[in-house]
Amino acid sequence: MIELKDISVDFDGFKAVDKVSLKIEKADAFGIVGFSGAGKSTLVRCINLLQKPTEGEVIVNGEDFLKLSDKELRKRRKKIGMIFQHFNLLNNLTVIDNVIFPIRKDQKSKKEKLEKAQKLLELVGIGDKANSYPRELSGGQKQRCAIARALASDPEILLCDEATSALDPKTTKQILALLQEIKDKIGLTIVIITHQMEVVKDLCNKVAVMQDGKVVEEGTTLEIFSNPKNKLTKDFVETSTNVNQTIEEVKNNISALGPDESLVKLSYVGESTTEPVINEIYEKFSIKTNVLAGNIEFITGTPVGNLIVTFKGDKEKIDQAVEYLISGGTNVTFLGDSNGIL
Ligand SMILES: Nc1ncnc2c1ncn2[C@@H]1O[C@H](COP(=O)(O)OP(=O)(O)OP(=O)(O)O)[C@@H](O)[C@H]1O
Ligand SMILES: [Mg+2]
Repeated sequence: MIELKDISVDFDGFKAVDKVSLKIEKADAFGIVGFSGAGKSTLVRCINLLQKPTEGEVIVNGEDFLKLSDKELRKRRKKIGMIFQHFNLLNNLTVIDNVIFPIRKDQKSKKEKLEKAQKLLELVGIGDKANSYPRELSGGQKQRCAIARALASDPEILLCDEATSALDPKTTKQILALLQEIKDKIGLTIVIITHQMEVVKDLCNKVAVMQDGKVVEEGTTLEIFSNPKNKLTKDFVETSTNVNQTIEEVKNNISALGPDESLVKLSYVGESTTEPVINEIYEKFSIKTNVLAGNIEFITGTPVGNLIVTFKGDKEKIDQAVEYLISGGTNVTFLGDSNGIL
């Protein structure tokens, strides 16, 4: 659906985007994360050429956008909707007129346009606000209006630049659920810029992490959450899972470990085999497991678990049990024993 090839954007010698290549498939919800200034907005604006890349190719639906005439480009752009953090509604127009705005010049009767806009307002759940003004809406309602407006020209792609950053967590969830619903209903391809890993977890099936104009890591949401490789990716994942923070809390609160105890972290992806395995290592190796903290979450339907446990038993038997766990696909990280905590 979207292919960016070796895109660079140069602002007076400063590379805001540096040789980025990305492929986004139809019906993907593709997340782009990174700190402020990483180049996320600049990159995404290249998709509809609001930002012209200094180098590289932008292929959308098989068409090389940089080779289109201005007129053709304007037409293609209508099929790419966009929503923003601050909604960008026209304050002097009613809600319904905001939705009609992008299609005001279309070859349709006023009545048809009104009907379409009203339908869209109902789709986004603010059908009763048609004649209100943006200032009379809450943040969540404003974003719903902005989504309806973005859908007015029947886009195939929706670009969302920090669309939930100005909203509280509950409203964020509602807007994400709405985007998911629309995506399922009309098969939209969505590109989402965010600094909230919660947004990625809730909505995206793929994610790219940007730093200093480059994509430093890319993968399915499950891959990124269960096995982040880059330091920055790990930091982002950590902000949403808090595993390291939990480990620190356990370490700070645990009394000294006995000579026959080890503190470990068990991580796994997929159907939890850890619980029966804990029973097995008791039966096979006489190792007693004490779960101190645990977190299991579902990433695109797959459980990803992290448990902080102590193993108690014969040192050699603990080693055998760890080997047994690893062979069963559980990741085991040693965190300490009676000699000290790492
Ligand atoms: N029109 C411009 N002229 C000059 N520099 C720009 C321009 N637009 C962006 N930049 C610079 O390019 C870099 C990337 O900006 P961009 O807005 O793409 O970052 P971002 O990842 O979207 O950040 P944020 O999370 O804060 O929105 C920044 O250093 C910014 O100052
Ligand atoms: Mg930005």
